[in-house]
Amino acid sequence: METRTYAIIGAGMMGREHIANLALLPEAKLIALADPDAGSRKWSGKAAGEDVRVFSDYMEMMREAKPDAVIIASPNFSHIDVVTDIAKFGAAILVEKPLATTVKDARFLAQLAKSYPNLFWIGLEYRYMPPIAKFIDVLHHGLTGPVKMLSFREHRFPFLPKVGDWNRFSENTGGTLVEKCCHFFDLMRYALQSDPIRIYATGGMDVNHLTERYDGRTPDILDNAYVVLDFASGTRAMLELCMFANLTHQEERLHVVGTEGRLSVSIPEAIVDWSPLRGEPWSEKIETPKDVLAAGDHHGATYFQLRDFHDALVSGRGPTLSAQDGLWSVKIGAAAHRSIETGLPVSLDENGDFT
Ligand SMILES: NC(=O)c1ccc[n+]([C@@H]2O[C@H](COP(=O)([O-])OP(=O)(O)OC[C@H]3O[C@@H](n4cnc5c(N)ncnc54)[C@H](O)[C@@H]3O)[C@@H](O)[C@H]2O)c1
Repeated sequence: METRTYAIIGAGMMGREHIANLALLPEAKLIALADPDAGSRKWSGKAAGEDVRVFSDYMEMMREAKPDAVIIASPNFSHIDVVTDIAKFGAAILVEKPLATTVKDARFLAQLAKSYPNLFWIGLEYRYMPPIAKFIDVLHHGLTGPVKMLSFREHRFPFLPKVGDWNRFSENTGGTLVEKCCHFFDLMRYALQSDPIRIYATGGMDVNHLTERYDGRTPDILDNAYVVLDFASGTRAMLELCMFANLTHQEERLHVVGTEGRLSVSIPEAIVDWSPLRGEPWSEKIETPKDVLAAGDHHGATYFQLRDFHDALVSGRGPTLSAQDGLWSVKIGAAAHRSIETGLPVSLDENGDFT
């Protein structure tokens, strides 16, 4: 593939994961990064190597380095301003999830993306994990028959500390169901090729962060939730999130049940499992190259997403993950939060809007 130059804005944990994965894609040449935090600049500058220019101001970086593509991995609350600023330069954009912290800001960015003259991509990368990609492929080839039920369960450790502790407050993140569960809602839409029409959720911050204080404030982020969704296709779906299930690892289980049987995928085991009503069951371990697994915490998703992004950039085709997908996942997360606040189900129209 042809070479293109890349820059990263926000060189914290996720920025470094992008640095490590770009290093596995020689045709995607990282030339610059920008971060206002001296610690992040030092750490990430070292990881990126001496050929990569390091800036504290991303506007200066854009003017000086003129990258073909920019990866925005700054905190959620900053996406609205950073994307708006960067769009003035016309470079291809990959903005980390969530698109924004509010439906209003996400709508603004999705509108901007519609008339953007270059590639605009939202980093909802779960579908790129090889076991999930296999699961989706089998599902979309019709193995299960029409899907009646879908369930996604994440059991994991609490939110990690972030630079400046931005992820402790919903005003900075969009709330847990936007911040992290946008991934899972996008995956549901993609798996089912349908959009939700009704959502009921219950959740709270019951175990983690209760004794933490930041400038005298206690965090307000959910650490567990159930979200039940009705899809336009007639499929019922459920998300179970628990962030105090263990202290070290992340365990994800996705399954769908159709008229012909049950298809499951488990992460990190990387096993896709088919349990039919009739016929032979099978189970397959999906391998991911070791260097790809080692380049991040997302089971290879960051690498395969960047490869697809680069292909779209070079070929001039549209995004696999569009700003509209980003907007939908923010709307679903926000609707789930609304349901928790009111104790009532929330109905969504065909655009995902709700009152
Ligand atoms: N794709 C995924 O699965 C995934 C995983 C983790 C994080 N993320 C997303 O990546 C983004 C960054 O998260 P993180 O975990 O790396 O956080 P982090 O706190 O580790 O890093 C964020 C970095 O951005 C810098 N920053 C702050 N304000 C900035 C600004 N205005 N312009 C440029 N840089 C700025 C900070 O100094 C910090 O170095 C978030 O949007 C997060 O939701 C995505």
